[in-house]
Amino acid sequence: MGDLLVSFHLWIKALHIISVIAWMAGLLYLPRLFVYHADAPAGSERSEMLKVMERRLLRAIMNPAMIATFLFGGALAATPGVLTAGSYWWHAKFTLVVVLAVIHMMMGAWRKAFEQDRNTRDAKFFRIVNEVPTVVMIAIVVLAVVRPF
Ligand code: HEM
Repeated sequence: MGDLLVSFHLWIKALHIISVIAWMAGLLYLPRLFVYHADAPAGSERSEMLKVMERRLLRAIMNPAMIATFLFGGALAATPGVLTAGSYWWHAKFTLVVVLAVIHMMMGAWRKAFEQDRNTRDAKFFRIVNEVPTVVMIAIVVLAVVRPF
């Protein structure tokens, strides 16, 4: 198995980065839809349309992309020679990846609240939420590429 991972290492890394891009696109776009949805009256045509967009974005793009990011990332971590005893960047990176996964789950809960017309949060709250994945993503990419420690 180790030999297979080594020989396909760069393909797996490419698939890892592709799935990361798809996951990040959803993590950055869904809170933007929540900003508009928070100002749409419950039951209105706009609110019903946003429900469809949010459901499709989460289920058809974000969920599969997160699973693929973890699968290809896990394959990279399991590739002989990729992570060594001193790869402390990896510990910090994985902690931040767990933070991103928690944010993903929270977005799932907010989406359900909108779907059931029981959202109580305002547009300002979701504008702030929108910034968090960006900051976390920047830190993860710096850790993964620069490996400062
Ligand atoms: C559970 C999730 C994840 C795992 C297990 C994981 C694992 C890894 C591992 C082991 C590498 C090193 C590959 C190598 O040296 O060849 C890597 C590279 C990389 N990861 Fe992840 N990762 C995960 C999530 C993410 C996320 C969420 C991002 C971005 C937001 C990300 C961005 C990157 C980048 C840009 C590289 C390439 C770095 C380079 O080779 O220069 N990863 N990942």
